[in-house]
Amino acid sequence: MNETEMMQSAAARRHALVGPADLWESKRIFQKDFLLKAGLKPHHKLLDFGCGTLRGGIPLINYLDAGNYIGLDVRTETLKEACLEIEESGLDIKRPTIIHCHNLSIISFSDGVSFIWAFSVLIHLSDEKLDQFLEFASRSLSPAGIIYANVFFGNRPDGKWRNFSLVRRTHDFYKSRCYDYGLAIEDIGPLRNFGHISHEKTQEEVDSHRMLRIFAR
Ligand SMILES: C[S@@+](CC[C@H](N)C(=O)[O-])C[C@H]1O[C@@H](n2cnc3c(N)ncnc32)[C@H](O)[C@@H]1O
Repeated sequence: MNETEMMQSAAARRHALVGPADLWESKRIFQKDFLLKAGLKPHHKLLDFGCGTLRGGIPLINYLDAGNYIGLDVRTETLKEACLEIEESGLDIKRPTIIHCHNLSIISFSDGVSFIWAFSVLIHLSDEKLDQFLEFASRSLSPAGIIYANVFFGNRPDGKWRNFSLVRRTHDFYKSRCYDYGLAIEDIGPLRNFGHISHEKTQEEVDSHRMLRIFAR
């Protein structure tokens, strides 16, 4: 294997840590495009919950003012790759904060964050972990702050993705869990409507993959 091939295979390994390698690029572009259309400005503070290897994080770090990106994930292997991505992209100057965290109850942000972005993360959370996330998110948002998170609507039995679950829950389920933490949700539609490309095969699968806007009641 020559040097270029070695670099390509290292990148493919990194990309596969967060999903299908062939969709990596489009899912990177989607994240920044979506957030900019949702009103993200460079002066906003953004928490990328479940940031993984910074598939979406790198363009966001580049876009935001220095110090305004916080990435948090539960896996050390993805965060190791995330730190390499920052270094390789020359984005240390933007001073991103990367947090490895298993216990959200010990994390807080003094000034609050304007946006919480949870891309393809709530779909992997058990109900108990979802509650922990919502409790954390509700006390981390600034007063006008907004959470965007994609979910699958439905009530099929949980599936698997790596060591995580792959869950489907109803709109009413998310509404009621959010309500308990002082939050309201708005289903703003299928991800596909915002330009998201996926391997979903049937119209039903496409329709069930939704984007939620979550905010303080
Ligand atoms: C499908 S990947 C998406 C990663 C990233 N958002 C992206 O778009 O590339 C899901 C990520 O959620 C992280 N994750 C799962 N459960 C988590 C939890 N309880 N707290 C924080 N991160 C979690 C995983 O480690 C993984 O990196």
